Amino acid sequence: MLDMNVDIVIMAAGKGTRMKSALPKVLHKLAGRALLGHVLLTAKQLKPRRVILVTGHDAPKVIAFGADFMPANGQFDLKTVLQEPQLGTGHAVQQAVPELGDEGVALILNGDVPLIEAQTLIELIACSAGKKLALLTVQDGDPSGYGRILRQGDAVQAIVEHKDASPEQRAIQEWYSGVMVAPAAQLKTWLSQLTNDNVQGEYYLTDIVKMAVQDGTGCVALKTTDGLQVAGVNSPVQLQELERAYQQRAADRLMEQGVRITDAARFDLRGDLQCGQDVSIDVGCIFEGSVKLADGVSIGAHCFIANCEIGAGAVIHPFTHIDGGQEKASVGAGALIGPYARLRPGAQLGEEVHIGNFVEVKNSTLAKGAKANHLAYLGDATVGERVNYGAGSITANYDGANKHRTVIEDDVHIGSNCVLVAPVKIGAGGTVGGGSTITKDTVPGSLSVARGKQVSIEGWKRPAKKKI
Ligand code: UD1
Ligand code: CA
Repeated sequence: MLDMNVDIVIMAAGKGTRMKSALPKVLHKLAGRALLGHVLLTAKQLKPRRVILVTGHDAPKVIAFGADFMPANGQFDLKTVLQEPQLGTGHAVQQAVPELGDEGVALILNGDVPLIEAQTLIELIACSAGKKLALLTVQDGDPSGYGRILRQGDAVQAIVEHKDASPEQRAIQEWYSGVMVAPAAQLKTWLSQLTNDNVQGEYYLTDIVKMAVQDGTGCVALKTTDGLQVAGVNSPVQLQELERAYQQRAADRLMEQGVRITDAARFDLRGDLQCGQDVSIDVGCIFEGSVKLADGVSIGAHCFIANCEIGAGAVIHPFTHIDGGQEKASVGAGALIGPYARLRPGAQLGEEVHIGNFVEVKNSTLAKGAKANHLAYLGDATVGERVNYGAGSITANYDGANKHRTVIEDDVHIGSNCVLVAPVKIGAGGTVGGGSTITKDTVPGSLSVARGKQVSIEGWKRPAKKKI
Protein backbone atom coordinates (compact mmCIF):
# COMPACT_ATOMS: atom_id res chain seq x y z
CA MET A 1 0.00 0.00 0.00
CA LEU A 2 2.62 2.51 1.11
CA ASP A 3 6.24 2.04 0.14
CA MET A 4 7.72 4.06 2.99
CA ASN A 5 7.91 3.88 6.73
CA VAL A 6 5.20 5.87 8.46
CA ASP A 7 5.30 6.97 12.09
CA ILE A 8 2.06 8.47 13.35
CA VAL A 9 1.96 11.13 16.05
CA ILE A 10 -1.42 11.58 17.72
CA MET A 11 -1.71 14.79 19.72
CA ALA A 12 -3.90 14.27 22.76
CA ALA A 13 -2.42 16.44 25.49
CA GLY A 14 -4.93 19.29 25.36
CA LYS A 15 -7.32 19.97 28.18
CA GLY A 16 -10.70 20.03 26.49
CA THR A 17 -12.00 22.70 28.86
CA ARG A 18 -15.19 23.25 26.89
CA MET A 19 -16.33 19.67 27.41
CA LYS A 20 -16.79 20.62 31.11
CA SER A 21 -16.11 17.02 32.03
CA ALA A 22 -13.85 15.04 34.37
CA LEU A 23 -13.23 12.66 31.47
CA PRO A 24 -10.36 13.61 29.13
CA LYS A 25 -11.79 14.93 25.87
CA VAL A 26 -10.30 12.22 23.66
CA LEU A 27 -12.05 9.55 25.75
CA HIS A 28 -15.53 10.91 25.10
CA LYS A 29 -17.48 8.57 22.86
CA LEU A 30 -18.72 8.95 19.34
CA ALA A 31 -20.77 6.06 17.93
CA GLY A 32 -19.97 4.11 21.08
CA ARG A 33 -16.21 4.40 20.71
CA ALA A 34 -13.78 6.89 22.29
CA LEU A 35 -12.65 9.65 19.92
CA LEU A 36 -9.10 8.40 20.38
CA GLY A 37 -10.25 4.85 19.59
CA HIS A 38 -11.51 6.04 16.19
CA VAL A 39 -8.16 7.70 15.48
CA LEU A 40 -6.17 4.63 16.60
CA LEU A 41 -8.25 2.33 14.40
CA THR A 42 -7.70 4.60 11.41
CA ALA A 43 -3.98 4.78 12.23
CA LYS A 44 -3.84 0.99 12.32
CA GLN A 45 -5.20 0.74 8.78
CA LEU A 46 -2.07 2.54 7.52
CA LYS A 47 0.16 -0.21 8.95
CA PRO A 48 2.47 2.32 10.58
CA ARG A 49 5.92 1.53 11.88
CA ARG A 50 4.94 3.14 15.15
CA VAL A 51 2.18 5.22 16.72
CA ILE A 52 3.21 7.83 19.27
CA LEU A 53 0.53 9.20 21.53
CA VAL A 54 1.28 12.62 23.03
CA THR A 55 -0.46 12.85 26.39
CA GLY A 56 -0.61 15.65 28.94
CA HIS A 57 -3.85 16.49 30.67
CA ASP A 58 -5.15 13.40 32.46
CA ALA A 59 -2.27 11.43 30.96
CA PRO A 60 -2.78 8.32 33.16
CA LYS A 61 -6.37 7.87 31.91
CA VAL A 62 -5.36 8.36 28.29
CA ILE A 63 -2.39 5.99 28.63
CA ALA A 64 -4.62 3.39 30.31
CA PHE A 65 -7.08 3.66 27.43
CA GLY A 66 -4.26 3.03 24.93
CA ALA A 67 -3.12 -0.01 26.91
CA ASP A 68 -6.66 -1.46 27.06
CA PHE A 69 -7.35 -0.70 23.43
CA MET A 70 -4.39 -2.65 22.09
CA PRO A 71 -5.21 -6.24 23.07
CA ALA A 72 -8.81 -5.92 21.88
CA ASN A 73 -7.97 -4.30 18.56
CA GLY A 74 -4.78 -5.95 17.41
CA GLN A 75 -1.23 -5.19 18.31
CA PHE A 76 0.80 -2.43 16.78
CA ASP A 77 3.70 -0.51 18.18
CA LEU A 78 2.11 2.14 20.42
CA LYS A 79 4.32 4.48 22.44
CA THR A 80 3.16 7.22 24.73
CA VAL A 81 5.06 10.39 25.55
CA LEU A 82 4.22 13.05 28.08
CA GLN A 83 3.93 16.73 27.22
CA GLU A 84 4.04 18.69 30.46
CA PRO A 85 3.27 21.58 30.41
CA GLN A 86 1.42 22.02 27.11
CA LEU A 87 3.16 24.78 25.19
CA GLY A 88 1.53 24.35 21.79
CA THR A 89 1.26 21.88 18.94
CA GLY A 90 4.92 22.30 17.92
CA HIS A 91 5.97 21.56 21.48
CA ALA A 92 3.69 18.51 21.47
CA VAL A 93 5.39 17.02 18.42
CA GLN A 94 8.81 17.87 19.88
CA GLN A 95 8.05 15.43 22.70
CA ALA A 96 7.58 12.66 20.13
CA VAL A 97 10.95 13.23 18.46
CA PRO A 98 12.86 10.56 20.44
CA GLU A 99 10.36 7.96 19.21
CA LEU A 100 10.43 9.05 15.56
CA GLY A 101 12.47 7.19 12.97
CA ASP A 102 15.33 8.93 11.14
CA GLU A 103 13.89 8.18 7.73
CA GLY A 104 10.38 7.77 6.38
CA VAL A 105 7.57 10.18 7.18
CA ALA A 106 5.71 11.37 10.24
CA LEU A 107 1.95 11.74 9.98
CA ILE A 108 0.48 14.17 12.51
CA LEU A 109 -3.09 13.52 13.70
CA ASN A 110 -5.30 14.98 16.40
CA GLY A 111 -6.83 12.74 19.04
CA ASP A 112 -10.01 14.81 18.94
CA VAL A 113 -10.62 14.56 15.18
CA PRO A 114 -12.31 11.17 14.98
CA LEU A 115 -13.67 10.87 11.46
CA ILE A 116 -10.57 11.27 9.33
CA GLU A 117 -10.45 8.42 6.81
CA ALA A 118 -7.49 6.20 6.02
CA GLN A 119 -7.94 6.80 2.29
CA THR A 120 -7.47 10.55 2.74
CA LEU A 121 -4.32 9.94 4.77
CA ILE A 122 -2.94 7.56 2.16
CA GLU A 123 -3.48 10.28 -0.46
CA LEU A 124 -1.73 12.82 1.75
CA ILE A 125 1.25 10.51 2.25
CA ALA A 126 1.36 10.02 -1.51
CA CYS A 127 1.39 13.83 -1.97
CA SER A 128 4.39 14.05 0.33
CA ALA A 129 6.08 11.19 -1.52
CA GLY A 130 8.41 11.05 1.48
CA LYS A 131 10.11 14.22 0.27
CA LYS A 132 7.84 17.22 0.78
CA LEU A 133 5.81 18.57 3.64
CA ALA A 134 2.16 17.82 2.82
CA LEU A 135 -0.75 19.62 4.48
CA LEU A 136 -4.37 18.53 4.52
CA THR A 137 -6.27 21.75 3.98
CA VAL A 138 -9.97 22.46 3.93
CA GLN A 139 -12.28 24.74 2.05
CA ASP A 140 -15.63 24.11 3.70
CA GLY A 141 -17.59 26.05 6.27
CA ASP A 142 -16.49 28.95 8.44
CA PRO A 143 -12.67 29.17 8.68
CA SER A 144 -12.59 31.45 11.70
CA GLY A 145 -10.38 30.23 14.52
CA TYR A 146 -8.27 28.10 12.19
CA GLY A 147 -4.85 28.60 10.66
CA ARG A 148 -5.13 30.10 7.15
CA ILE A 149 -3.15 28.86 4.18
CA LEU A 150 -1.03 31.56 2.57
CA ARG A 151 -0.22 30.90 -1.09
CA GLN A 152 1.81 32.71 -3.69
CA GLY A 153 0.18 31.80 -6.94
CA ASP A 154 -0.52 28.16 -6.35
CA ALA A 155 2.42 27.47 -4.09
CA VAL A 156 1.86 27.19 -0.33
CA GLN A 157 4.06 29.67 1.54
CA ALA A 158 2.97 29.55 5.17
CA ILE A 159 0.18 29.04 7.68
CA VAL A 160 -0.87 32.01 9.74
CA GLU A 161 -2.84 31.30 12.90
CA HIS A 162 -6.19 33.09 13.16
CA LYS A 163 -5.11 35.06 16.21
CA ASP A 164 -1.98 36.26 14.43
CA ALA A 165 -3.66 36.97 11.09
CA SER A 166 -4.38 40.34 9.51
CA PRO A 167 -7.94 41.14 8.35
CA GLU A 168 -6.88 40.32 4.75
CA GLN A 169 -5.45 36.98 5.86
CA ARG A 170 -8.58 36.20 7.86
CA ALA A 171 -10.57 36.58 4.65
CA ILE A 172 -8.77 33.53 3.23
CA GLN A 173 -11.20 30.61 3.04
CA GLU A 174 -8.66 27.77 2.89
CA TRP A 175 -7.63 26.56 6.34
CA TYR A 176 -5.33 24.01 7.88
CA SER A 177 -7.01 20.84 9.12
CA GLY A 178 -4.38 19.97 11.72
CA VAL A 179 -3.23 16.94 9.70
CA MET A 180 0.17 16.90 7.97
CA VAL A 181 2.82 14.54 6.68
CA ALA A 182 6.48 15.50 7.00
CA PRO A 183 9.73 13.77 6.06
CA ALA A 184 11.00 12.64 9.47
CA ALA A 185 14.57 13.91 9.18
CA GLN A 186 13.58 17.42 8.13
CA LEU A 187 10.79 17.54 10.69
CA LYS A 188 13.28 17.01 13.48
CA THR A 189 15.40 19.91 12.22
CA TRP A 190 12.41 22.23 11.85
CA LEU A 191 11.05 21.39 15.30
CA SER A 192 14.39 22.30 16.87
CA GLN A 193 14.11 25.78 15.32
CA LEU A 194 10.60 26.70 16.53
CA THR A 195 10.10 29.79 18.65
CA ASN A 196 7.07 31.00 20.58
CA ASP A 197 7.22 34.51 19.26
CA ASN A 198 3.50 34.97 18.50
CA VAL A 199 0.27 36.31 19.95
CA GLN A 200 -0.40 33.16 22.00
CA GLY A 201 3.20 32.59 23.13
CA GLU A 202 2.91 28.98 21.89
CA TYR A 203 5.23 26.80 19.85
CA TYR A 204 3.21 26.47 16.66
CA LEU A 205 3.72 23.32 14.62
CA THR A 206 2.36 25.32 11.71
CA ASP A 207 5.53 27.48 11.68
CA ILE A 208 7.40 24.59 10.03
CA VAL A 209 5.63 25.41 6.74
CA LYS A 210 7.74 28.55 6.24
CA MET A 211 10.87 26.54 7.07
CA ALA A 212 10.03 23.86 4.51
CA VAL A 213 9.58 26.55 1.87
CA GLN A 214 12.80 28.36 2.84
CA ASP A 215 15.09 25.31 2.96
CA GLY A 216 13.82 24.11 -0.43
CA THR A 217 12.03 20.99 0.86
CA GLY A 218 8.79 22.45 -0.41
CA CYS A 219 5.23 22.22 0.82
CA VAL A 220 2.20 20.82 -0.97
CA ALA A 221 -1.44 20.89 0.04
CA LEU A 222 -4.20 18.35 -0.44
CA LYS A 223 -7.46 20.25 -0.29
CA THR A 224 -10.63 18.54 0.92
CA THR A 225 -14.18 19.82 0.94
CA ASP A 226 -15.30 17.14 3.39
CA GLY A 227 -15.47 19.15 6.59
CA LEU A 228 -16.70 16.12 8.53
CA GLN A 229 -13.41 14.26 8.16
CA VAL A 230 -11.42 17.07 9.71
CA ALA A 231 -13.98 18.27 12.25
CA GLY A 232 -12.67 18.41 15.79
CA VAL A 233 -14.64 17.99 18.99
CA ASN A 234 -14.38 20.80 21.52
CA SER A 235 -17.80 20.84 23.17
CA PRO A 236 -20.77 18.55 23.83
CA VAL A 237 -22.65 20.35 21.06
CA GLN A 238 -19.92 19.60 18.52
CA LEU A 239 -19.76 16.01 19.73
CA GLN A 240 -23.48 15.63 19.17
CA GLU A 241 -23.26 17.24 15.71
CA LEU A 242 -20.50 14.85 14.67
CA GLU A 243 -22.41 11.90 16.12
CA ARG A 244 -25.47 12.71 13.99
CA ALA A 245 -23.37 13.30 10.89
CA TYR A 246 -21.63 9.96 11.46
CA GLN A 247 -24.98 8.20 11.94
CA GLN A 248 -26.45 9.81 8.83
CA ARG A 249 -23.51 8.49 6.79
CA ALA A 250 -23.83 5.03 8.36
CA ALA A 251 -27.57 4.97 7.58
CA ASP A 252 -26.95 6.23 4.03
CA ARG A 253 -24.48 3.41 3.39
CA LEU A 254 -27.00 0.81 4.59
CA MET A 255 -29.85 2.34 2.60
CA GLU A 256 -27.67 2.29 -0.52
CA GLN A 257 -27.44 -1.47 0.03
CA GLY A 258 -31.24 -1.66 0.17
CA VAL A 259 -31.87 -1.59 3.93
CA ARG A 260 -35.06 0.29 4.79
CA ILE A 261 -34.48 2.65 7.67
CA THR A 262 -37.63 4.47 8.73
CA ASP A 263 -35.78 7.56 9.99
CA ALA A 264 -32.03 8.03 9.70
CA ALA A 265 -32.21 10.69 12.40
CA ARG A 266 -33.43 8.00 14.80
CA PHE A 267 -30.91 5.30 13.94
CA ASP A 268 -27.74 4.56 15.87
CA LEU A 269 -24.91 2.26 14.96
CA ARG A 270 -22.15 1.72 17.50
CA GLY A 271 -20.17 -1.01 15.85
CA ASP A 272 -20.58 -3.11 12.75
CA LEU A 273 -23.94 -3.97 11.19
CA GLN A 274 -24.23 -6.35 8.25
CA CYS A 275 -27.58 -6.73 6.55
CA GLY A 276 -29.01 -9.07 3.95
CA GLN A 277 -31.69 -8.15 1.44
CA ASP A 278 -35.01 -6.61 2.47
CA VAL A 279 -34.08 -5.79 6.02
CA SER A 280 -36.19 -3.11 7.67
CA ILE A 281 -35.39 -1.11 10.77
CA ASP A 282 -37.99 1.01 12.52
CA VAL A 283 -37.27 4.15 14.52
CA GLY A 284 -35.16 4.43 17.66
CA CYS A 285 -33.03 1.30 17.30
CA ILE A 286 -29.45 1.03 18.56
CA PHE A 287 -27.02 -1.54 17.18
CA GLU A 288 -23.84 -2.27 19.09
CA GLY A 289 -20.78 -4.46 18.62
CA SER A 290 -21.09 -6.94 15.80
CA VAL A 291 -24.60 -7.57 14.46
CA LYS A 292 -25.70 -9.57 11.44
CA LEU A 293 -29.26 -9.43 10.11
CA ALA A 294 -30.12 -11.99 7.43
CA ASP A 295 -32.53 -11.47 4.53
CA GLY A 296 -35.97 -10.17 5.39
CA VAL A 297 -35.33 -9.46 9.06
CA SER A 298 -37.62 -6.83 10.51
CA ILE A 299 -36.58 -4.84 13.56
CA GLY A 300 -39.38 -3.05 15.40
CA ALA A 301 -39.17 0.35 17.02
CA HIS A 302 -36.87 1.07 19.95
CA CYS A 303 -34.87 -2.14 20.05
CA PHE A 304 -31.34 -2.42 21.45
CA ILE A 305 -29.44 -5.10 19.55
CA ALA A 306 -25.84 -6.03 20.28
CA ASN A 307 -23.47 -8.85 19.36
CA CYS A 308 -25.85 -11.27 17.71
CA GLU A 309 -26.93 -12.88 14.49
CA ILE A 310 -30.55 -12.87 13.44
CA GLY A 311 -31.78 -15.40 10.89
CA ALA A 312 -33.79 -14.83 7.74
CA GLY A 313 -37.31 -13.54 8.12
CA ALA A 314 -37.13 -13.22 11.90
CA VAL A 315 -39.26 -10.46 13.38
CA ILE A 316 -37.99 -8.54 16.37
CA HIS A 317 -40.93 -6.68 17.87
CA PRO A 318 -40.55 -3.27 19.55
CA PHE A 319 -38.63 -2.66 22.77
CA THR A 320 -36.62 -5.86 22.59
CA HIS A 321 -33.21 -5.94 24.24
CA ILE A 322 -30.64 -8.33 22.82
CA ASP A 323 -27.05 -8.31 24.04
CA GLY A 324 -25.05 -11.42 23.24
CA GLY A 325 -21.90 -10.00 24.86
CA GLN A 326 -18.70 -11.89 24.18
CA GLU A 327 -20.48 -15.24 23.87
CA LYS A 328 -22.87 -13.79 21.25
CA ALA A 329 -26.54 -14.60 20.81
CA SER A 330 -28.36 -16.03 17.83
CA VAL A 331 -31.94 -15.99 16.65
CA GLY A 332 -33.10 -18.57 14.12
CA ALA A 333 -34.88 -17.96 10.85
CA GLY A 334 -38.55 -17.13 11.16
CA ALA A 335 -38.36 -16.53 14.90
CA LEU A 336 -40.68 -14.02 16.60
CA ILE A 337 -39.11 -12.10 19.44
CA GLY A 338 -40.73 -9.54 21.73
CA PRO A 339 -42.17 -7.06 22.27
CA TYR A 340 -40.22 -6.44 25.48
CA ALA A 341 -38.09 -9.59 25.28
CA ARG A 342 -34.56 -9.85 26.63
CA LEU A 343 -31.91 -12.13 25.13
CA ARG A 344 -28.61 -12.33 27.00
CA PRO A 345 -25.20 -13.89 26.27
CA GLY A 346 -25.40 -17.45 25.03
CA ALA A 347 -29.06 -17.28 24.00
CA GLN A 348 -29.26 -19.55 20.95
CA LEU A 349 -32.70 -19.73 19.46
CA GLY A 350 -33.55 -22.12 16.64
CA GLU A 351 -35.88 -21.61 13.72
CA GLU A 352 -39.38 -20.34 14.43
CA VAL A 353 -38.82 -19.97 18.13
CA HIS A 354 -41.23 -17.55 19.82
CA ILE A 355 -40.08 -15.42 22.73
CA GLY A 356 -42.77 -13.09 24.01
CA ASN A 357 -43.10 -10.15 26.33
CA PHE A 358 -41.03 -10.02 29.51
CA VAL A 359 -39.23 -13.29 28.75
CA GLU A 360 -35.53 -13.43 29.59
CA VAL A 361 -33.21 -16.00 28.02
CA LYS A 362 -29.59 -16.49 29.10
CA ASN A 363 -27.06 -19.15 28.12
CA SER A 364 -29.83 -21.37 26.79
CA THR A 365 -30.52 -23.25 23.59
CA LEU A 366 -34.06 -23.44 22.29
CA ALA A 367 -34.66 -25.87 19.43
CA LYS A 368 -36.95 -25.33 16.47
CA GLY A 369 -40.47 -24.21 17.27
CA ALA A 370 -40.03 -23.85 21.03
CA LYS A 371 -42.18 -21.14 22.60
CA ALA A 372 -41.97 -19.07 25.75
CA ASN A 373 -44.55 -16.39 25.22
CA HIS A 374 -45.01 -14.57 28.48
CA LEU A 375 -43.21 -13.49 31.68
CA ALA A 376 -40.63 -16.27 31.98
CA TYR A 377 -36.97 -17.00 32.66
CA LEU A 378 -34.82 -19.55 30.89
CA GLY A 379 -31.25 -19.62 32.19
CA ASP A 380 -28.71 -22.40 31.54
CA ALA A 381 -31.38 -24.49 29.85
CA THR A 382 -31.47 -26.83 26.90
CA VAL A 383 -34.93 -26.76 25.42
CA GLY A 384 -36.13 -29.24 22.80
CA GLU A 385 -38.27 -28.82 19.71
CA ARG A 386 -41.86 -27.62 20.01
CA VAL A 387 -41.62 -27.17 23.79
CA ASN A 388 -44.25 -24.84 25.21
CA TYR A 389 -42.98 -23.02 28.26
CA GLY A 390 -45.78 -21.47 30.31
CA ALA A 391 -46.24 -17.96 31.58
CA GLY A 392 -44.42 -17.14 34.77
CA SER A 393 -42.23 -20.25 34.75
CA ILE A 394 -38.58 -20.10 35.63
CA THR A 395 -35.49 -22.25 35.73
CA ALA A 396 -33.91 -22.00 39.18
CA ASN A 397 -30.40 -22.33 37.83
CA TYR A 398 -28.38 -20.89 40.69
CA ASP A 399 -27.98 -22.52 44.11
CA GLY A 400 -26.19 -19.53 45.56
CA ALA A 401 -22.78 -20.87 44.59
CA ASN A 402 -23.00 -22.71 41.28
CA LYS A 403 -25.08 -22.65 38.13
CA HIS A 404 -26.83 -25.83 37.00
CA ARG A 405 -28.53 -26.89 33.77
CA THR A 406 -32.14 -27.63 33.08
CA VAL A 407 -32.93 -29.97 30.20
CA ILE A 408 -36.42 -29.86 28.71
CA GLU A 409 -36.78 -32.52 26.04
CA ASP A 410 -38.82 -32.31 22.81
CA ASP A 411 -42.56 -31.72 22.94
CA VAL A 412 -42.71 -30.97 26.65
CA HIS A 413 -45.46 -28.71 27.93
CA ILE A 414 -44.54 -26.69 31.01
CA GLY A 415 -47.60 -25.13 32.64
CA SER A 416 -47.76 -21.65 34.09
CA ASN A 417 -45.85 -20.50 37.13
CA CYS A 418 -43.56 -23.53 37.44
CA VAL A 419 -40.12 -23.60 39.08
CA LEU A 420 -37.68 -26.08 37.56
CA VAL A 421 -34.92 -26.51 40.13
CA ALA A 422 -31.70 -27.38 38.30
CA PRO A 423 -30.04 -29.72 37.71
CA VAL A 424 -33.19 -31.37 36.42
CA LYS A 425 -34.47 -33.03 33.26
CA ILE A 426 -38.04 -33.06 31.98
CA GLY A 427 -38.55 -36.17 29.82
CA ALA A 428 -39.75 -35.90 26.24
CA GLY A 429 -43.45 -35.34 25.67
CA GLY A 430 -44.07 -34.81 29.38
CA THR A 431 -46.39 -32.25 30.93
CA VAL A 432 -45.73 -30.28 34.08
CA GLY A 433 -48.82 -29.02 35.87
CA GLY A 434 -49.12 -25.31 36.53
CA GLY A 435 -47.62 -24.09 39.79
CA SER A 436 -45.31 -27.09 40.21
CA THR A 437 -41.88 -26.93 41.77
CA ILE A 438 -39.93 -29.68 40.04
CA THR A 439 -36.79 -30.92 41.78
CA LYS A 440 -36.46 -34.44 40.33
CA ASP A 441 -36.14 -35.70 36.75
CA THR A 442 -39.47 -36.64 35.18
CA VAL A 443 -40.40 -39.69 33.12
CA PRO A 444 -41.01 -39.10 29.38
CA GLY A 445 -44.67 -38.81 28.49
CA SER A 446 -45.81 -38.39 32.11
CA LEU A 447 -47.79 -35.67 33.85
CA SER A 448 -45.84 -34.25 36.77
CA VAL A 449 -47.53 -32.17 39.43
CA ALA A 450 -45.65 -30.96 42.48
CA ARG A 451 -47.71 -28.58 44.56
CA GLY A 452 -49.98 -28.62 47.59
CA LYS A 453 -53.20 -30.54 46.96
CA GLN A 454 -56.27 -28.39 46.63
CA VAL A 455 -58.60 -28.46 49.61
CA SER A 456 -62.14 -27.06 49.50
CA ILE A 457 -63.95 -26.57 52.82
CA GLU A 458 -67.69 -26.47 52.41
CA GLY A 459 -69.75 -24.04 54.45
CA TRP A 460 -66.72 -22.06 55.55
CA LYS A 461 -67.56 -18.55 56.76
CA ARG A 462 -65.46 -15.47 56.17
CA PRO A 463 -64.48 -13.58 59.33
CA ALA A 464 -66.78 -10.61 59.88
CA LYS A 465 -65.90 -7.21 61.38
CA LYS A 466 -66.68 -7.00 65.12
CA LYS A 467 -69.47 -4.54 66.02
CA ILE A 468 -68.49 -2.18 68.88
C1 UD1 B 1 -4.31 23.98 15.31
C2 UD1 B 1 -3.47 24.63 14.21
C3 UD1 B 1 -4.39 25.38 13.28
C4 UD1 B 1 -5.43 24.45 12.71
C5 UD1 B 1 -6.21 23.77 13.82
C6 UD1 B 1 -7.11 22.71 13.26
C7 UD1 B 1 -1.39 25.07 15.33
C8 UD1 B 1 -0.53 26.11 15.93
N1 UD1 B 1 -2.55 25.50 14.84
O1 UD1 B 1 -4.97 25.01 16.02
O2 UD1 B 1 -3.64 25.96 12.22
O3 UD1 B 1 -6.34 25.18 11.86
O4 UD1 B 1 -5.28 23.12 14.72
O5 UD1 B 1 -7.89 22.18 14.29
O6 UD1 B 1 -1.04 23.92 15.28
N2 UD1 B 1 -2.34 19.85 21.65
C9 UD1 B 1 -1.38 19.22 22.39
N3 UD1 B 1 -0.49 19.96 23.08
C10 UD1 B 1 -0.51 21.31 23.05
C11 UD1 B 1 -1.49 21.96 22.27
C12 UD1 B 1 -2.39 21.19 21.56
O7 UD1 B 1 -1.34 17.97 22.45
O8 UD1 B 1 0.36 21.92 23.70
C13 UD1 B 1 -3.29 19.03 20.90
C14 UD1 B 1 -4.72 19.26 21.32
O9 UD1 B 1 -5.09 18.33 22.34
C15 UD1 B 1 -5.46 18.98 20.04
C16 UD1 B 1 -4.49 19.40 18.96
O10 UD1 B 1 -3.22 19.42 19.57
O11 UD1 B 1 -5.71 17.60 19.87
C17 UD1 B 1 -4.81 20.74 18.35
O12 UD1 B 1 -4.82 21.72 19.35
P1 UD1 B 1 -5.83 22.94 19.32
O13 UD1 B 1 -5.51 23.84 20.45
O14 UD1 B 1 -7.20 22.43 19.16
O15 UD1 B 1 -5.47 23.59 17.94
P2 UD1 B 1 -4.98 25.05 17.65
O16 UD1 B 1 -3.59 25.21 18.15
O17 UD1 B 1 -5.99 26.01 18.07
CA1 CA C 1 -4.38 26.03 20.95
